[in-house]
Amino acid sequence: MITPHAEAFFDPLTSTYSYVVHAEGNPQCAIIDPVLDYEPHSATTSTRSAQQLIDYIKKNQLELQWIIETHAHADHLSAGSWIKSQLGGQLAIGTPITQVQHTFKNIYHLNDQVKTNGEPFDRLFAAEEQFLIGDMVVDVLHVPGHTPADMAYHVHGLGIFVGDTIFLPDVGSARCDFPGGNAEQLYDSVHRLLAFPEDTVLFMCHDYPPTSREAQYHCTVADQRKNNIHLRDGISKAEFVAMRTQRDATLGLPKLMLPALQVNIQAGQLPTAEEDGHRYLKIPLNRF
Ligand SMILES: [Fe+2]
Repeated sequence: MITPHAEAFFDPLTSTYSYVVHAEGNPQCAIIDPVLDYEPHSATTSTRSAQQLIDYIKKNQLELQWIIETHAHADHLSAGSWIKSQLGGQLAIGTPITQVQHTFKNIYHLNDQVKTNGEPFDRLFAAEEQFLIGDMVVDVLHVPGHTPADMAYHVHGLGIFVGDTIFLPDVGSARCDFPGGNAEQLYDSVHRLLAFPEDTVLFMCHDYPPTSREAQYHCTVADQRKNNIHLRDGISKAEFVAMRTQRDATLGLPKLMLPALQVNIQAGQLPTAEEDGHRYLKIPLNRF
């Protein structure tokens, strides 16, 4: 009998949850959505958050098999490539990342070192594919809407890592106004997740708690169907799309979007150093 476990790590600066997933009796593990800390005023990166994941893996004598992204994040930089340089493991994301790479390579006018064929990810998961973390079976669910390449990961016997689709019931849902986003698709994607049995555990990618409660990383399908402010039972697709469209029109660009996406479409790999030994990000002016 496999007893799977998800250890959650919260980054309060970007409100992101990262996870280490493993099972008793098998050292192989996966990291989901690791954060590379980034201080935007000084453009300083730090591996403080990612080091916590590594410390947990070492303390529990685990072997890192996968470094998995639910999507190319716009709110934080990924520590995927740095973690791979420390512990190995395969970098993985959904197949439609190629579309996102293409879109943002154009937006940033990146050079030909930046590929749009999925590299430098080691593995692109197709929709509905199955893979293993140790002995644990994982179903890949394509859940577009926030971006075209969002994947959720259903770890049998544990729950579903939902990425940026649904948030906790009092927070609602992910925005759909990034390039390739689509509120109708998000509605369908979330309803697919909410069709799982009511006691299925949903692991959040973010939490933005009101001051009245602490950040929390999971809830159940039943909770969401009863209480989600955007997507509980009885809210129609038309109502959701109208709400989401109106709300997205009021949201500013995420603080770290411009530094983050050029790095995240490259699995968290920072740009190659220039002749002076320093790395530079690109910022498109007046583009958004
Ligand atoms: Fe996101």
